[in-house]
Amino acid sequence: MEIIIQPTAEAATSVAARLIARLLREKPNAVLGLATGSTPLLLYRELIALKLDWRKVTTFNLDEYVGLDAKHPQSYHSFMWENLFRHVNIAKKNVHIPDGMTKDIPKFCATYEKQIRAAGGIDLQVLGIGTDGHIGFNEPSSSLASRTRIKTLTQQTRKDNARFFGSEAAVPHHCITMGIGTIMEARQNLLLAFGPKKARAIAAAVEGPITAMNPASVLQLHPVTKVCLDTAAAARLKRADYYRWVYENKPEWQQI
Ligand code: GLP
Repeated sequence: MEIIIQPTAEAATSVAARLIARLLREKPNAVLGLATGSTPLLLYRELIALKLDWRKVTTFNLDEYVGLDAKHPQSYHSFMWENLFRHVNIAKKNVHIPDGMTKDIPKFCATYEKQIRAAGGIDLQVLGIGTDGHIGFNEPSSSLASRTRIKTLTQQTRKDNARFFGSEAAVPHHCITMGIGTIMEARQNLLLAFGPKKARAIAAAVEGPITAMNPASVLQLHPVTKVCLDTAAAARLKRADYYRWVYENKPEWQQI
């Protein structure tokens, strides 16, 4: 893992945005895996401002709530169109987000996996992290080899996400999420985490043992994972000074 600690969420986001911008310039038909939640909002704002060419880009989102229509204001469909897609020149046919209203969830999930493969696999997957260490909606105890499927949200996640829905009771119990095995097949993973609430999950993911109890910890097995943090999210890392030194002293050819 490459741990990049910046003083603010804005600075950490800029590192991530530069990485994505470079990918889209070098590979105009790149396949991006995208995330929702409050964490990537700054990133999407910065990518919009960069005025990149999205015409040939294909995207696959990590997850969606089961039972929410695409038009529901809290659906991840609405989130993505509102916060990114409607501001860039992406082709609607190239956007893939799990369908929370599908009648046949297992069939839908198998098709989603096939579509990722048919697109050539994900070049870069953007990830946030839940306070319980989840990536996508792969809650603790998820199989580290899991594929796209239905999952049940933990009480903690429903509590964390209640702020978007007005009340905890309104947060759906189920979701469709790419599996951890699916995420691990991306050529590159880019995990973002900001603020003190993420510090514990980040410390466990980066410096703890690989365990299904902190699904993000499996990224230690991925050959190309960058973790972009602000100071608060990095606060519990024991080797923070080392990570800072490494990043600040990278040879020029190795820099983002
Ligand atoms: C959400 C999403 C995740 C996200 C995480 C953190 O529920 N399913 O993809 O990374 O939880 O959310 P936030 O960025 O709002 O803290």
